[in-house]
Amino acid sequence: MALLIKNGEIITADSRYFADIYVEDETISQIGHNLDVPANTEVIDAEGKYVFPGFIDPHVHIYLPFMGTFSKDTHTTGSQAALMGGTTTFIEMCAASRFDDTKEAYELWKSKAEGNSACDYSFHIGISKFDDETESQLREIVADGISSFKIFLAYKGFFGVDDEEMYKALALAKELGVIVTAHCENGEIIERLQEKLLSEGKTGPEWHEPSRPVSVEADGVNHFASFLENTGAKGYVVHLSNKMALEAAMRAKARGVDISIEAVIPHLMLDSDYAEQENFEGAKYIMSPPLRAKENQAALWAGLEHGFIDTVGTDHAPFDFKGQKDMGIDDFSKIPNGIPAIEDRVTMLYTYGVSRGNLDIHDFVSVASTKAAKLFNLFPRKGTIAVGSDADIVIFDPNHKEVLTHANQTMNLDYRGFEGFEIDGKPEVVTVRGQIAVKDGKFVGDPSRGKFLRRKTSK
Ligand code: URP
Ligand code: ZN
Ligand code: ZN
Repeated sequence: MALLIKNGEIITADSRYFADIYVEDETISQIGHNLDVPANTEVIDAEGKYVFPGFIDPHVHIYLPFMGTFSKDTHTTGSQAALMGGTTTFIEMCAASRFDDTKEAYELWKSKAEGNSACDYSFHIGISKFDDETESQLREIVADGISSFKIFLAYKGFFGVDDEEMYKALALAKELGVIVTAHCENGEIIERLQEKLLSEGKTGPEWHEPSRPVSVEADGVNHFASFLENTGAKGYVVHLSNKMALEAAMRAKARGVDISIEAVIPHLMLDSDYAEQENFEGAKYIMSPPLRAKENQAALWAGLEHGFIDTVGTDHAPFDFKGQKDMGIDDFSKIPNGIPAIEDRVTMLYTYGVSRGNLDIHDFVSVASTKAAKLFNLFPRKGTIAVGSDADIVIFDPNHKEVLTHANQTMNLDYRGFEGFEIDGKPEVVTVRGQIAVKDGKFVGDPSRGKFLRRKTSK
């Protein structure tokens, strides 16, 4: 299989130039002009288009048993939606609860993805308890190619770890050279505030944010950072949503804590007004940490512009409005948490970042691809366009205009998180290791092309 991408403008995190790309089998084998290629090579003309490295979503939930139900996408629908939006690799949270055997959960998540994903994938292994057996299983899982852990400070009694478990998980991560990703919200305060609000008859989706205010998240970030500081582990705050939490993370960075920060596209684009809509419509916009007051978005965009925020993911966690979100019709604490976004991250970030003048185009590539590849040990195989890298390539039309609607989405649920938003550009062709997966904005690929990516530790 050979492919020649001609006349495009290649844009990576640190370079921008016109050149042709020749792909042999799965890898980029030449970049330049007047390349000498066999006569039967398939040619794609990318004139007037940007040529980006395949985008990487470092935080998705595809299979997710959670809050009494299961997230709606399968690896088939989720991976094809990812590709339609230009994401060629995702890292899924293997979200084992404290009632699960960690190794069994890992095997289950792997079996769900295997043969069903159209894009490449890896996992962060969730740690919801820490005992001798879990520790030895974690060592095996790391040896199998998983070099990141996931812990939750929230969701007490289900996903959440206590301080002893967190300390031990971080100490093991330090020993093994594994990065620890963390959902940082103080689970105890959330439970107390939920009880208080519900006892006052405050049951609607608009009370979700007040049950997990910004200080609860900032406290979680501080807490995680001091555990990183005292174990020497490398950490990554997932879905950081607000200015106070960002300041907490930056204070930790300033004193030398090895902590990286992820923002997610729902927090960058949607504010708390969405969750306050009437007739329970707000339930579509319930996620944790919650959508925040508008001024926090400015802080997140500034964090991206100045390089304080390292990556932009989705936290894709799709639940239908009818039949799932409405499990919490009488009690906001029972609304399954999550907003669908896997298909819309790249186009929304490009549009409201690059196209509307809020983000440099190289920073866009960095936060949506390259930095995640570096932090999670996929670089330079993924995250850039270079000879020897996997041929995961996005040919992006910056002149495409569209309004996002539920009717034209690939994600498998009954609403779209970014319904009605305009986009100023779109992936026209997307390749996964040299094979065309999306052409003219349609999925045309092999539904089982995706490979499990084994990642090295940082030892
Ligand atoms: O609301 C969210 N974020 N749902 C998915 C689970 C998590 O916390 O990441
Ligand atoms: Zn989370
Ligand atoms: Zn998540």
